[in-house]
Amino acid sequence: MTRWLITGAGGQLATAFADLLAGDPLATVTLMREEETDLRDTDAVLRAVRAAAPDVVLHTAAYTAVDAAESDEATALAVNDGGTANLVAALGHLAARPDADRGTHGPDAGRGGHSDPDADLPLLVSFSSDYVFDGHKDRPYVESDEPSPQSAYGRSKLAQERATLAWPAGIVVRTAWLFSPIGTNFVKTIVRLAGERVAQARERAGGESLGIPNISPRPTPLRVVDDQVGSPTYAPHLAAGVVELLLRGPAPGIYHIAGSGACSWLELAREIVTRAGLPVEVLPQTTAELGRPAPRPAYSALASERGAPVLPPWHDGVAACLAALAGDAKEST
Ligand SMILES: NC(=O)c1ccc[n+]([C@@H]2O[C@H](COP(=O)([O-])OP(=O)(O)OC[C@H]3O[C@@H](n4cnc5c(N)ncnc54)[C@H](OP(=O)(O)O)[C@@H]3O)[C@@H](O)[C@H]2O)c1
Repeated sequence: MTRWLITGAGGQLATAFADLLAGDPLATVTLMREEETDLRDTDAVLRAVRAAAPDVVLHTAAYTAVDAAESDEATALAVNDGGTANLVAALGHLAARPDADRGTHGPDAGRGGHSDPDADLPLLVSFSSDYVFDGHKDRPYVESDEPSPQSAYGRSKLAQERATLAWPAGIVVRTAWLFSPIGTNFVKTIVRLAGERVAQARERAGGESLGIPNISPRPTPLRVVDDQVGSPTYAPHLAAGVVELLLRGPAPGIYHIAGSGACSWLELAREIVTRAGLPVEVLPQTTAELGRPAPRPAYSALASERGAPVLPPWHDGVAACLAALAGDAKEST
């Protein structure tokens, strides 16, 4: 039996893990929700960790509002750095309890061998971001590349990495450009916007047939940035890759796991509308034209030099996400 504690319940990645582990009869899963346990509340985190007594913590919770963090870096740090430090402290308390019953049956039971005193500690798997890099490279970033975050969110994620690695059984998984059928993400936003443009064009075409002149039936194009390149990652693919990594009994440290390949947001948007059958043109825009508050890396594709599991290509993730969204839409009608 493995006891899993998932922080950030309700989020994209937490939901993907919960769905994946629901199929494992040897998994006991506890979900940590923000309403009950704010990561910034040291005592609440300690209570939740003690109650779950996990073998593995999948720490997906985070302050993820990249632009809002620019004007509220203190909150981003309090959640991402401070919240992770609270988890580490709680795991320390748990490990110090003489009656603690954990660690010998997790997916990493062989980690480090019997002589490693840390081998029985619960694993803390924390998720970080490609935004810890400055984006000046022209080849995929690997684990040993030096982070140099340009945004408040990126700085808070780097601080989270360091807080995670303070735990002797700490694992940081850097990933990128996450999307899934739930929550708010780029794939869902493009599907919604393109769908709205198609519906508006249909309305206009209806007006034309009524004899109202000068109205184009073509959907208004979308504009998407083409000067940021990264590795779009389907959350269920990432969840499967992380579990595969854990089954190998990985050494503590940093691992890069993201959708295979790389593309710009523009290419990603074009892939989405094409696969979704939405006849909307997607035109390029620059990051400067978009004028978002947070700077983002121009290039932040991820690859692993540590043999981390390789995920399916990003466009397979898009196809899987659109299929899941179409299935959800069918169910709700
Ligand atoms: N999304 C991306 O593109 C991306 C890219 C690279 C790395 N990552 C990292 O991957 C991880 C998972 O991302 P995701 O997209 O699945 O995130 P998400 O969907 O935004 O979910 C984050 C979860 O964290 C919870 N949370 C926020 N503040 C909290 C607090 N103070 N205490 C407890 N819980 C709190 C949120 O709860 P509420 O919704 O109730 O606030 C939400 O359930 C995060 O570490 C993120 O930084 C994400």
